[in-house]
Amino acid sequence: MHTGAEAPTDPMIPRLFAVRARRDETEDTFTFDLEPRDLGPRDLELLGGARSMAFAPGQFNMLYLFGLGEVPISISGDPAEAGRLVHTVRSVGSVTRGFSGLQPGQTVGVRGPFGTAWPTREAEGRDILILAGGLGLAPLRPAILRILAERRRYRRVYLFYGTRNPQMLLFRDDLERWRNTPDLAFEITVDHADITWHGRVGVITKLIAAADFDPDRSTAFLCGPEIMMHFSAEALKARGMHGADIHVSLERNMKCAIGHCGHCQLGPAFVCRDGPVFPHDRVAGLLAVPGL
Ligand SMILES: Cc1cc2nc3c(=O)[nH]c(=O)nc-3n(C[C@H](O)[C@H](O)[C@H](O)COP(=O)(O)OP(=O)(O)OC[C@H]3O[C@@H](n4cnc5c(N)ncnc54)[C@H](O)[C@@H]3O)c2cc1C
Ligand code: FES
Repeated sequence: MHTGAEAPTDPMIPRLFAVRARRDETEDTFTFDLEPRDLGPRDLELLGGARSMAFAPGQFNMLYLFGLGEVPISISGDPAEAGRLVHTVRSVGSVTRGFSGLQPGQTVGVRGPFGTAWPTREAEGRDILILAGGLGLAPLRPAILRILAERRRYRRVYLFYGTRNPQMLLFRDDLERWRNTPDLAFEITVDHADITWHGRVGVITKLIAAADFDPDRSTAFLCGPEIMMHFSAEALKARGMHGADIHVSLERNMKCAIGHCGHCQLGPAFVCRDGPVFPHDRVAGLLAVPGL
């Protein structure tokens, strides 16, 4: 573990970060901000200051909790705010449960950023469709923030967000802001409503049918359960979109995150190195194979 004055450059050696703030999103999901703990002012200067934490929307870090282990977690912060590293974690097992107890001041090891990005630059000048299912909004949030900050570079922008129920909605401040953002067609839908919910109920694919976009000049970003991405991609193709213009983010078990160990293998691809963001036409056939 690196503890000295120099920043580690080996991608297998975590850098030490301190939790600066944490907030609960839902009963089992929380967001925390990290700041470097192992770098002095001189190191930050050498690394280009806050830019040392720069990342591309869609990339992930390996987060290490002492005594528990390491897990891949997408970066959910704003790519324009390079001084802050933000992650959103759902507590599902031994390591993520450990993260749920983190408090400001505690230490986390970070390796990364790793992986491919949402092609926000390549999509400039096109209609944009962003479809998020559940926790899938976290890896998409950096792309959404960038696209909205640079809104004039894109044509029509659609953001559709589906969750199981209203209690599971993430980033509620963002949702409120996006509801009131001009030039953004933003819809939330839930599978199961309760008495507090007056919005849409039903699957996210229904929203695609009603959207007005040019299939030959559109790029779609999809993140959520694989079944949701599958049916959303099919609905987009039924509207005339090409598989190469539909991008999905995949999850597989990971260990090294640098394409060495093979844990994340998906056919000929390694999700850590060739993904997690893939054009749908590259992975659709592989996702159809049970067990891959
Ligand atoms: C590229 C990438 C990006 C990711 N980004 C995020 C993120 O931003 N936020 C986040 O919370 N998670 C994210 N994940 C998933 C996260 O890495 C896993 O939830 C974590 O590794 C589980 O580790 P654990 O030790 O807590 O649970 P384990 O002990 O490994 O698993 C406990 C139980 O949870 C189940 N489980 C494991 N993973 C998931 C999952 N993803 N969803 C539902 N159940 C699961 C297992 O099948 C098992 O039954 C990402 C994964 C990848 C590959
Ligand atoms: S996690 Fe080791 S090859 Fe991808």
